[in-house]
Amino acid sequence: MKRLFIALCCACSAGFLPAQTPVYLDDSQPIEARVKDALSRMTLEEKVKLCHAQSKFSSAGVPRLGIPEVWMSDGPHGVRAEINWNDWGYSNWTNDSITAFPALTCLAATWNPEMSAKYGKALGEEARYREKDVILGPGVNIYRTPLNGRNFEYMGEDPYLAATLCVPYIQEVQKNGVAVSVKHYALNNQELWRGHIDVECSDRALYEIYLPAFKAAVQQGGAWTIMGAYNKFRGQHACHNELLLQKILKQDWKFDGVVVTDWGGAHDTYEAAVNGLDIEMGSYTNGLTSESAFTYEDYYLAQSYYNMLRSGKVPMSTIDDKAARILRLIFRTAMNRNKPYGSIVTEEHYAAAREIGNEGIVLLKNALVQKKQSPLLPIVADKYRRILVVGDNATRFLNQGGGSSELKVKDMVSPLEGLRAVYGDKIQYAKGYAAGRPMYGNVEQIPQAVTDSLRAEAVAMAQEADLVILVGGLNKNHLQDCEAGDREDYGLPFGQDELIEALQAVNKNLVLVLLSGNAVEMPWVSKVPAIVQGWYLGSMGGHSLADVLSGKVNPSGKLPFSFPAKLTDNGAHSFDALAYPGDSIKEVYKEDILVGYRWHDTKKVPALFSFGHGLSYTTFSYGKPTASSKTISADGSLTITVPVKNTGTTFGKEVVQLYVGDDKCSVLRPTKELKHFQKIALQPGEEQTVTFTIAPDDLKFYNETLGDWTSEPGKFKAYVGASSSDIRGVVAFELK
Ligand code: GLC
Repeated sequence: MKRLFIALCCACSAGFLPAQTPVYLDDSQPIEARVKDALSRMTLEEKVKLCHAQSKFSSAGVPRLGIPEVWMSDGPHGVRAEINWNDWGYSNWTNDSITAFPALTCLAATWNPEMSAKYGKALGEEARYREKDVILGPGVNIYRTPLNGRNFEYMGEDPYLAATLCVPYIQEVQKNGVAVSVKHYALNNQELWRGHIDVECSDRALYEIYLPAFKAAVQQGGAWTIMGAYNKFRGQHACHNELLLQKILKQDWKFDGVVVTDWGGAHDTYEAAVNGLDIEMGSYTNGLTSESAFTYEDYYLAQSYYNMLRSGKVPMSTIDDKAARILRLIFRTAMNRNKPYGSIVTEEHYAAAREIGNEGIVLLKNALVQKKQSPLLPIVADKYRRILVVGDNATRFLNQGGGSSELKVKDMVSPLEGLRAVYGDKIQYAKGYAAGRPMYGNVEQIPQAVTDSLRAEAVAMAQEADLVILVGGLNKNHLQDCEAGDREDYGLPFGQDELIEALQAVNKNLVLVLLSGNAVEMPWVSKVPAIVQGWYLGSMGGHSLADVLSGKVNPSGKLPFSFPAKLTDNGAHSFDALAYPGDSIKEVYKEDILVGYRWHDTKKVPALFSFGHGLSYTTFSYGKPTASSKTISADGSLTITVPVKNTGTTFGKEVVQLYVGDDKCSVLRPTKELKHFQKIALQPGEEQTVTFTIAPDDLKFYNETLGDWTSEPGKFKAYVGASSSDIRGVVAFELK
């Protein structure tokens, strides 16, 4: 027998018999079999090593088994430049310049799932080419306050819009063998005190407002990783929160992927072990202030976790579950031999960035300057001899700063360059205001003398110009649209309000372009004839802006969040400090489910510009909406049809929105909630009938008594609108 065994081994090693490929290395095997086999071969030390960082942006594999490490990279809008092994510094490589795609607020403003798919495909290809296994995005936290420093990275105030538009992005990224990391799960709706603020909100607000986008990301998007948030929820850190991770994410939603912390988001070994955290990333984790003072072995899910396992303080089942999930992630990404090679800074990616920008830019206002004249937009070149472009944001590299989403780009077409490419030497430029260097830390004070002289120069040139385009807004400085801080007031910074008034006083032909990820106060709104919400548009931003301002592209973006006239018109700012920003320990979401337009509608406090608002260079008429029936049964459905016609002179796209309202309910419900939308393209004179199907789930609310979604029989209304406040037709129906 022994001789036979030796003979067989010789035969195998000599290649005469097929060497048995271990299951975990065999691509033809189902992933679950590979996971099981790999797990059975690993020691406890090797399993624990999988569960924490080995460097700033990587976690360990199993070298002995040829299982590679996991490489992660920011961020949601593009692949961040390479960062050093063990500190936050950039490695200054020369081959990591990439495409900056528009910020996710711009993607949300397209209201177009096709743009989301294009976005995910291009981003996934760039992440794959940069050999990243996890791209740390998309961010889908709900826009609760206009002061949140990171709203620009997220997808607006409505759970249905964010849920619908994050799914194609996720699916397309992951087709490249790159995992997304949907963040920041959950209730991370501000940056002030983000590391510890303990958020309290009702179950209804949790399930109806703050979770739907994450649920869609998992159940429809198939997200392979989720990133836990820094803050606490109901007293427990989100990165090891039993309700959020074990109960809702892994048990109810059946999430089979990996939960990673935000960087430094773990704070307790026992909770991390038993509450469903899988990989601990970050730094300063064990409370030390200097990284050099400790190794990754000091992480909560490292030596101390190993000791707890060995001593039986936590069950071995916890490490097998974590390791299995991490192996599954590795087989889906690093060890997925079928993944494509990817590509970066291709014409296709630039075209996608430009198209997403074109479809996301929102025309807020386009009024006549004088009677019988046409509106200022689109800007017809031969009507003007001298066009003055003003503003720091016309030339600023807005890919820099902002925090972890900042990008190192190969190309970055500024608004000034984009406008010069169309209007040539008609264009003149004046800075108009100064904002200082992109600072992810302290704010650079601009001397008043500088502000005054820049303004005086711009006003003098405006007097001689036929048209003025002010490109302003916010930027990526600390306390602006930037991570780790919130804005401290609702108005435009850097003296822009005074600049707008001064320019308008000398030249009525003023077009204002706001580049930002947040709403701002507009005390001058009645004096400015044309206002465009331009977002952070990325590498092709200047071309997108020029495409829309010149009329080459007819704007079709719609606001993904409301612009309250003043801050206290916003729900979160209608109570006391405990409602926002909290008392530095605790915060209570007192507006509950009435976030954004839900507040404006229900409290009858109109927004200056509404959720879903966006003008066009053409006009659309809506016919009377009709319902397939007057009643809907608990398991039936109802179709609403509405004819929409392009009654203008140019091709255009319109987002037809369907909101549903419950006339009478035993609990408070918003006047109406977005439940469907469709973006349609119409030639002048063309009409299309849009059909929506209302399903029973569209009528439900989260019943806190039952701990489940239910609806109550009675009268409902379907509102068809061009925005949440521009309702073109209402159809009543009854739930039997
Ligand atoms: C940051 C951010 C998170 C980012 C991570 C890595 O603190 O909160 O969004 O992905 O750390 O940079």
